[in-house]
Formats: sequence, structure tokens, C-alpha cells
Amino acid sequence: MNAVSDYINSRRSAFADDLAELLRIASVSADSRQNAETRRAADWVAAQFKNVGLATEVIPTAGHALVYAESPPVPGKPVVLVYGHYDVQPPEPLDEWISPPFEPTVRDGNIYARGATDDKGQMLTHVKSVEAWIKSVGKLPLQVKFLIEGEEEVGSEHLEPYVEKNRNKLACDAVVISDCSQFAPGIPAITYGLRGIAYYELRLRGPKQDLHSGTFGGAITNPANALVALLAALKDANGRIQVPGFYDDVVPLSEREREEYRALPLTDEEFMRSVGVAEMFGEAGYSAIERRWARPTCDINGLTSGYQGEGAKTVLPAKASAKFSFRLVPNQDPKKIAKSLRKFLKDRLPPGIEMELVDHHGAPGVLISLESPYIHAAATAIEAAFGRAPVFVREGGSIPIVNTFARELGADVLLLGWGQNDDNTHSPNEKFSLDDYHRGTLASAHLWEQIAKLESRGQGSGVGGQGKKKD
Ligand code: BES
Ligand code: MN
Ligand code: MN
Repeated sequence: MNAVSDYINSRRSAFADDLAELLRIASVSADSRQNAETRRAADWVAAQFKNVGLATEVIPTAGHALVYAESPPVPGKPVVLVYGHYDVQPPEPLDEWISPPFEPTVRDGNIYARGATDDKGQMLTHVKSVEAWIKSVGKLPLQVKFLIEGEEEVGSEHLEPYVEKNRNKLACDAVVISDCSQFAPGIPAITYGLRGIAYYELRLRGPKQDLHSGTFGGAITNPANALVALLAALKDANGRIQVPGFYDDVVPLSEREREEYRALPLTDEEFMRSVGVAEMFGEAGYSAIERRWARPTCDINGLTSGYQGEGAKTVLPAKASAKFSFRLVPNQDPKKIAKSLRKFLKDRLPPGIEMELVDHHGAPGVLISLESPYIHAAATAIEAAFGRAPVFVREGGSIPIVNTFARELGADVLLLGWGQNDDNTHSPNEKFSLDDYHRGTLASAHLWEQIAKLESRGQGSGVGGQGKKKD
């Protein structure tokens, strides 16, 4: 292991240069104008694997390509599948970036670029730790498979059927994902819960075209007024969601979790300062951490209607639309919620308005058992690299494919975030600390050693292994 750590320490700046190269590629999966760039990112990742001799494929899908690579099987040792994504969120609003989103720039030990932490930098820690093992020791102590996708930021639509059809190929004992955060600077974490998501677009239509708001206003329903009324009805003044049945399947927080969260070092003041608000708001009866990690919610993500240009225009718009999403917790079912939501909106639709509800993507929440030798192995590896044991957290974000991995592969999932909550994911000036990049790479290298000490459950590839399927 010393030789591996030495290699990682000696390549620190070269690894940062490689990350910068990947960050220069504008792989925005939501934007079809960037399809060539998105493909270039897949090829760049594949080249990394080929350079260290892994068997590598770029797999086309109906959307963006998957990159798959594997090291040779190591008989008797566990098999690990690393998942990550090379696609990124759109960089807008561009004028709020201090340095341009696809021109990675280092300031104060952080590398700034779209995708720096989410997920190019975090994903690359595992690629680099594998490189370090191969270049310094000659081989890995266990088999590592990589599955890196290009559609995470748009809902992983084409990955799910791929995983379902390739259970044997992807068979593994543990899935390792670094696409979330540490608890705070200097406090690494293992994440045992994620929220799910149900994302919608509501489109309302009124008159056949935009109208003079003086000539016609007051005599017909304005779609923009209708839209805000419908959206406002989704939550009450206490932050409770009003869609019937919404809370039916929610797994409540355990007393033990609530106690553990209270003991975590985050004050309301620190939290408010970090997001720049003077007061908090959320579902009554829950702390900020509980609201963010373990309670469902609803947020408007985009609103469009009427005149958006300079000055005032007296117009009664013909259409109005909104994008909004619910964050879900275990065991809420996105399909059940879609059904209830549709009825809720239809029942409240004002006269003269037609509605269309587009169901964009959904994924259930995740809860992972901490009673697993893989969790212990990960905690040991993190402590070796970060100099302190991890705390156990849930997080509010979603990684749609995690449930599919657990269900189809029967593997333990390790969510090992190297990012920070203030990394500005999905926002202007996204960053990743180069120290976290380095420590994450070291932790990943230690992880292979720790997991190799565990007994394989005998489902690796190359030995006719089968993914075990839970009912
Ligand atoms: N890496 C994030 C998910 C995440 C963020 C997990 C913070 C934990 C903490 C991921 O790339 C992401 O943004 N997911 C989307 C999923 C959606 C597009 C289906 C999300 O959560 O909005
Ligand atoms: Mn991500
Ligand atoms: Mn993301």
C-alpha cells in the first residue's frame, strides 16, 4: 500500500491536470447542441481505462453512451463495481461565473468548473486509484468494474434497462459511488440514505393567443394566474404537501437517527450563512438536517409565462408553464404520487384552462443498512486517508440508479462522497477542493485493499458468477 500511496502523492499535480482536461469538455447531457462534446467526454474516460490496460467498451444507448471497463478477475476476492457520471448540468447563468464554466481555474486550492465535484472530480478519484495500483504494484488486489454513464443529470433513463439486461456482466459484491458530499470540511462521511425524486412540467393553455390585458383582462382566466394558484396549493403554510396520500408510505425518522443528527456539528446559524438567508422555513416539527435528508418536499424549478423582456408590457399570456419536483423519501412511490398529483391538479383547474402534465423522471429514495462489512472497510479506508473516522449521514439529493443496483445486483452500495456542501453543485462557480480530490484518491486506493481482505460472496465475473436477485 505504501507504493500505491507514494505513487498518488507523486502524481498529485498530474492528476489535477488530467481532471482539468476532462473539465474542459462541455458534456451537458440536457443540451443536444453539446452531443458531440458529451461523446468526447465518454471517449476521454474510456481512454483513461485503456491507458492502464483495462478491457474497455464505449456502449451506445438511445441517449448518451455508457463507458464500461474491467480489470482482470482475482479468484476468491470480492468484485467491486464503481459507478459515476461524466455528464454535467447546464452551466447557466453564465454571467455569474468568476471564471468560465469550461475553463477550469484553480483558486485557493479549489478547481472551479462545471462538473468539478459533480461528478467528474469525484468519479476520477477511483480511476486514478486504479491507475496507482496498476502502475505501482502491477495489479489490483481485487477485480474492479467501472460503469460510467452520461445521463445521470437527466434521469438515467437508458442505464436502468442496461443494468437489468446485464446482471451477469455487472455482478459484484459492492457498488462504490462517489457522487455526494462529506459532512463538512475535515469531517468525512458515509451516506446511508438519499432522497428520491418525481419531476414534472405543468403546461396550461388559455386563450388562442396572447391578448391585450386591458381589453380582455377580468373576463377570462389568465393561465399565469391559474398556474401560480395551482402551484401555491401544493403546500400549506406549514410546509406540508397537500396532494392526497402523499405521506402515506413515508418511513418516519427513527428516534436514534434524530438523536444522532442532533449531535452533528452544524448550527442553524452556520446553515443559514452557507446559503445566504436570514431565516429558515420548512415542514413544522423538523430540524433543518431532518428536512433536507429525511423528509419529502416540493420545489418549483422553473417558471415561464408572459413578458420577460425589458420594461412593462400589458399582456394576458395565452400559456404558462412550470417545472417542479418532489423530493421523496423511502418508501414513497413516484408512480403513485404522479397519479394522485394529476387528479389534484385537474380537480382545481379553473374554467377556460387546459392542462398538460409531463412526467419527466422519477426515482425512489434509498436507505442502506450500516450492518455490512463493506461499510466497515470503507470507514477504515476513509480514516486512513482523511485522518478521521467518517460520520454517517443521509443526503437530500438523488442518484436515480442506486435502487436498481441494489435490486438487480443484490450488492451492498457504498456512497462515499468526497465533495463539500458548499461546492456549488448545479450552481455558478462549482468547485472541488484539490485536497479532497487527493484524499479521495488515497481513500479509494485504501478501499481496494480493505475490501480485498473480505470474503467474496462468489459472484464475480469470469467464474460464471450470477448477480443475486432479491425478491
Ligand atoms: N450528485 C448528485 C446527487 C447528490 C447531490 C447526492 C448531493 C447527494 C448530495 C446528482 O448528480 C444529481 O444532481 N442528481 C439529480 C438527479 C435528477 C436529475 C434525477 C438530483 O438530485 O437532482
Ligand atoms: Mn452527481
Ligand atoms: Mn448533479
